[in-house]
Amino acid sequence: MRVPVLVTRASFPDIVDRLRAGFEVTDNPDDTIWTQSELIERLQGKVGAMTAGSDRIDATLLDACPQLKAVCNIGVGYNNVDVEACTARGVLVTNTPDVLTDTTADFGFALMMAAARRIAESEHYLRAGAWTKTGRYDMFVGGDVHGATLGILGMGRIGQAIARRGAFGFDMRVIYHNRTPLPAQTEERCRARYVDKETLLRESDHLIVVAPYSAQAHHAIGAAQLKQMKSSATLTNIARGGVVDDAALAVALEEGGIAAAGLDVFEGEPAVLPALLALKNVVLTPHIGSASVSTRRAMASLCVDNLMAALGQGPAAGRPPTPVNPGVLHAQARSFEQRASL
Ligand code: DGY
Repeated sequence: MRVPVLVTRASFPDIVDRLRAGFEVTDNPDDTIWTQSELIERLQGKVGAMTAGSDRIDATLLDACPQLKAVCNIGVGYNNVDVEACTARGVLVTNTPDVLTDTTADFGFALMMAAARRIAESEHYLRAGAWTKTGRYDMFVGGDVHGATLGILGMGRIGQAIARRGAFGFDMRVIYHNRTPLPAQTEERCRARYVDKETLLRESDHLIVVAPYSAQAHHAIGAAQLKQMKSSATLTNIARGGVVDDAALAVALEEGGIAAAGLDVFEGEPAVLPALLALKNVVLTPHIGSASVSTRRAMASLCVDNLMAALGQGPAAGRPPTPVNPGVLHAQARSFEQRASL
């Protein structure tokens, strides 16, 4: 009998088909968003799942689905998964890092540039038929990107890729803040300098938030932090909703505390705070940082590789390429060895 697995969201059919050779696949081609109890119901008897950020994998769900052995999440971020609860129950978690780094960095940079140079705002103006006389000297003047100071909060792979774009593509001075400074060689490759958070806030002309969400990172940028920024600065969030306090940001944008913002992620998305929707100086996109065709395919493919390997199939059987809690694999291998030696 083939092993039953669940694919919780629609994905590229040819990539999901790779699972059908070895597994009994229940998928969701209509891309219905299931409630938590619907998800639990569909997970009954499933040994593995290909999940996405909209699925909440917590202790309650795990206790209701005791057969589950692998949760393979699409996305580099996995704040929708309680990794500790998974580890405690011997459930492997995987994510999809690396394959999306450059695509997401491109997008972060584009969003920052759109905010700085007022691209969305001026496009709306033109489409609305408001461009009736040729440009005044101050029409849609914004902030320069080239030669400015780029600040990066969260200097993982995507943060570093953004730094390289700023330093080498736009001749920017790059400063960053992270839990720990990067090794000197890595800093050199990004032409970036570690600073404390206050300096980052005070000196950035364009601040991009790339830090993963965690309870400690909740509202890492709130009213107090926004007050420390230059009134000419832009803020871009491509990390997760909740790292930035959206309500405080709306106030800062409204009152001229900062000049503009670019947001691809929101607290409580897909809902967006009405106060943000009402503002002209914020560019809003629906969480599409990694959305190029080739990158979305690469993410789905890596997720399928992880699921197959986690459940002992394919060329990497037993060695999923990108585990989040690899200790579970070691524990599974030890218990297999113990059983074999009995
Ligand atoms: C990621 O990879 O974490 C993206 O934000 C998609 O969820």
